[in-house]
Amino acid sequence: MTSDHAESIAAARTAIQSSRNPCCFSGAGLSAPSGVGTFRDPGDGWWSRHDPMKLASPEGFSEDPELVMKWYAARREQMAQARPNAGHLALANRKDIVQITQNTDDLLERAGCDRLVQLHGDITSDRCHGHCGHVERVDMSNPPLDRMCPACGDERMRPTVTWFGEALPSSAWSLAEQTARECDLMLVVGTSAVVYPAAALIEVASRSGATIIIVNSEATAASPLADHELIGSAEELLPRLLESS
Ligand code: APR
Repeated sequence: MTSDHAESIAAARTAIQSSRNPCCFSGAGLSAPSGVGTFRDPGDGWWSRHDPMKLASPEGFSEDPELVMKWYAARREQMAQARPNAGHLALANRKDIVQITQNTDDLLERAGCDRLVQLHGDITSDRCHGHCGHVERVDMSNPPLDRMCPACGDERMRPTVTWFGEALPSSAWSLAEQTARECDLMLVVGTSAVVYPAAALIEVASRSGATIIIVNSEATAASPLADHELIGSAEELLPRLLESS
């Protein structure tokens, strides 16, 4: 926990500058300043108002596909208005940092990040729920609702995101795990660090000897692993941490 930001930012900056193989593990808090809702923030997080199992699980989708697709339509319209914030841009300027994100929005990509691993998929496309292989980009400002797969007609279309109870994309997971094992520094930004297996990457990096720097608006489950913990907004702190002096 930091008392004086300037002092702890200087110490964290020194650690970042001496890092040879940095990575960043990010969550919804990175995109929150862009107006994209988080999940567990008290009061306005999605899961404080909705049951995640009803909106982000295969069971919930089978039970009420119309409700699920309406929820994704609302999130997609919110994201269509969003622009990358100073935190995304600060990360994108550091081409040496591999980005591992739990976020399904495209803000890191639009900020210019090209070394991006999306652990929980990508909300800008839909795929056949029945795995016929049909995938289509969606119009985020005019998102589709519940519909059958136009290719096979047997199953419905659903977002190309990882729902609770579904396996993470295997190639993304193995790349993320290898990155966490081999990095010498992990920036942990805007995540409550409570969803596994993604959150395990912080422990993997820490156990491999990496320096852990947390940037979050509050302490989290990962706080005990932090070598440096900066409490505040990623939009404000990341540029101060990452800009070249
Ligand atoms: N700057 C830094 N941190 C912030 C900011 C901000 N501007 N705003 C919010 N936060 C912090 C919150 O305090 C919280 O600790 O970001 C964290 C967001 O946590 P969650 O809402 O739990 O989001 P996340 O950790 O990304 O969730 C992981 O859960 O529901 C699933 O698949 C979903 O990928 C998501 C996963």
